[in-house]
Amino acid sequence: MKLVKTIEEMRALSNTVHSRGAHLGLVPTMGALHEGHLSLVRAARDKSDTVAVSIFVNPTQFGPHEDFAKYPRNLERDCGLLEREHVDVVFAPSVEDMYPAGAVTWVTVEGMSDRLCGRSRPGHFRGVTTVVSKLFHIIEPDAAFFGQKDAAQVAIIRRMVRDLNMPVSSEVCPIIRESDGLALSSRNAYLNPNERKSALVLYRSLRRAQELFDRGERDPAKLIATGKQEFAKDSAARLDYLEIVDPDSLESISKISKRALIAVAAFVGNTRLIDNIVVDPER
Ligand code: PAJ
Repeated sequence: MKLVKTIEEMRALSNTVHSRGAHLGLVPTMGALHEGHLSLVRAARDKSDTVAVSIFVNPTQFGPHEDFAKYPRNLERDCGLLEREHVDVVFAPSVEDMYPAGAVTWVTVEGMSDRLCGRSRPGHFRGVTTVVSKLFHIIEPDAAFFGQKDAAQVAIIRRMVRDLNMPVSSEVCPIIRESDGLALSSRNAYLNPNERKSALVLYRSLRRAQELFDRGERDPAKLIATGKQEFAKDSAARLDYLEIVDPDSLESISKISKRALIAVAAFVGNTRLIDNIVVDPER
């Protein structure tokens, strides 16, 4: 496994891979890797000749009062995990290399970037789409692998790829959960034991909404009301949003007549967590 720290070296390596005619798969991450990330790496391994994983805690997707400074970073540990998964290249650039002084160019998916997490984290998705575009330009992957855990991110990146004719196929992998249902996240490391218990309220609220859906309810307002009741029971968790939207456009829907995304975000203590499920009346 090769650890590449400069854009120049990454470009050279990617050119070599392409000149061999090999299929290059990319898994973009911010490190602090867990089984959720590794599931994407395994999917990439299955479908690509060469697998690259980027590790970059991207400052532009964090708000001024968010956890950029304290976000967990452990490149050595991450590289050990990736080596075991037979990853070929780890790209871990510096902030200065990725954002040289005077960088003022952004990629924004308008409208969609203001929905769900975009509403409570202004500028977040602009940071994500900008860095993912940069990674695509530098690495030139044939396919990129993302987790359904960040469902809005998936929809926004797919729209960007379509709108800007980027020659990359975006693959989406299912959410990996702990045995009690909590979605794996690098931010779970912030939770103390009591918060860890409270964090289950996200998945519980989604399950409640799903149970009602399974009993035939198609009115999003009713499903949301049921899910919200779970939050009323737990004072340690503060709901940010619980919404039912079209999974492709992220627009609200008034009746569930096709696949719908039920997405939740909440603060548990100071930690912001997200989760989601997809319901499908045709299944
Ligand atoms: P990060 O939070 O490190 O996540 C990297 C990828 O892992 C994302 O596609 C995310 O959806 C996926 N992932 C995280 N937890 C998961 C889980 N429990 N199950 C399945 N997949 C999971 O998302 C980002 O980084 C950044 O925004 C990035 C795309 C790298 C741009 O900076």
